[in-house]
Amino acid sequence: MCNQKEAPLRIKIGMAHVVTVLAFTGLTGTARAADNVRIGLMLPYSGTFADLGKNITNGFKLAIAEKGGKIAGRDVEFVTLDDESDPAKANENANKLIKRDKVDVLVGTVHSGVALTMARVARSAGIPMIIPNAGADELTGALCAPNIFRTSFSNWQAGYGVGALMAQKHKSAVALAWKYAAGDEQTAGFKEAFEKGGGKVLKHLTLPFPNTEFQPLLTEIASIKPEAAYTFVAGAAQVKLAKDYHAAGLRSRIPLYGAFITEGTLQAQGESAQGLLTVLHYADGLETPRNKSFIESYKKAYGGATPDVFAVQGYDAAQLYLVGLEAVEGDTSKRKEMLKAMENAKLDSPRGPLSFSKSHNPVQDMYIREARGNQNVMVGVAVKQLVDPSPECKMQ
Ligand code: BEZ
Repeated sequence: MCNQKEAPLRIKIGMAHVVTVLAFTGLTGTARAADNVRIGLMLPYSGTFADLGKNITNGFKLAIAEKGGKIAGRDVEFVTLDDESDPAKANENANKLIKRDKVDVLVGTVHSGVALTMARVARSAGIPMIIPNAGADELTGALCAPNIFRTSFSNWQAGYGVGALMAQKHKSAVALAWKYAAGDEQTAGFKEAFEKGGGKVLKHLTLPFPNTEFQPLLTEIASIKPEAAYTFVAGAAQVKLAKDYHAAGLRSRIPLYGAFITEGTLQAQGESAQGLLTVLHYADGLETPRNKSFIESYKKAYGGATPDVFAVQGYDAAQLYLVGLEAVEGDTSKRKEMLKAMENAKLDSPRGPLSFSKSHNPVQDMYIREARGNQNVMVGVAVKQLVDPSPECKMQ
């Protein structure tokens, strides 16, 4: 679909920076046409989160393609930038997109640490920012702002859902997570729900991002002998973790749980992931007409590739921006009106109906999924309509 209609004009600006004009059927574009809507996609296109960045981009572009490649009658221009999941480069990168490329909206990113810096830049510039993955609690907590929205989850939400499920099945657990905002906050959410349900977290093991030397930590888990293990790592690293865990013979003795551990990687994980239970706000195995039609159109657009939660979050980021810009008939200068429309948006997401809390974070069901073959099959709901209370958010 979108591949057939799309005629991308790519202009390289430095190593990691590409401007793409989507000239849909019958239209031509120039890289800097003043009347184009300029969308800055600041995402990881290299490193352990490269696939996540790619799938978010695919999802975003699909939603625009479904609208004929236009937003409120205006042509769309994408400026993409590889953020390398590097927080140290985030300030410069976000400023490049805003000040040099003059994007109308900043979309990004995956890594919590990078997104926190982006949000500070977007806040001071007043430019709309839509977060299609990064879960840092602060983004819709202390840093919340009228121009900052998230279409994914807060780290607290992601961990809380898993803890709620594990509490129904186990009394003790060990956590293993990357040592940065996402690992720390998701583990905190997990611990809160697990201990509320009567479980006890015996130890929180960590390793630096994006390290994958899991072996010493798996040896420690085996010696602690918890009833179960909770984990947060993501992207390419989760393939290695599932395989190492399986090879260490831990799968049958100490069941492994997480939010993302099987997301988008079942084929690569093979036997090591089969039967794993995860909790997330999307399941590719969700049996709804909306999800089925989304999967079909994504497959058609991207050579048979199956969408994952990251593609859905990207798709919904575009849906949210469409609601905002359509409300002002494409006039980006009517920012206040546009942000109001986004705040009140009710999206028809492949995950189910999607609305936003006062802090602009998704309110959503947390599905229990079981890895079967190449699908995360929806087998229940761990928490219905989970809202991050975001007590630190003081919206001005
Ligand atoms: C994060 O850094 O917030 C994150 C990265 C990958 C998956 C989930 C969360």
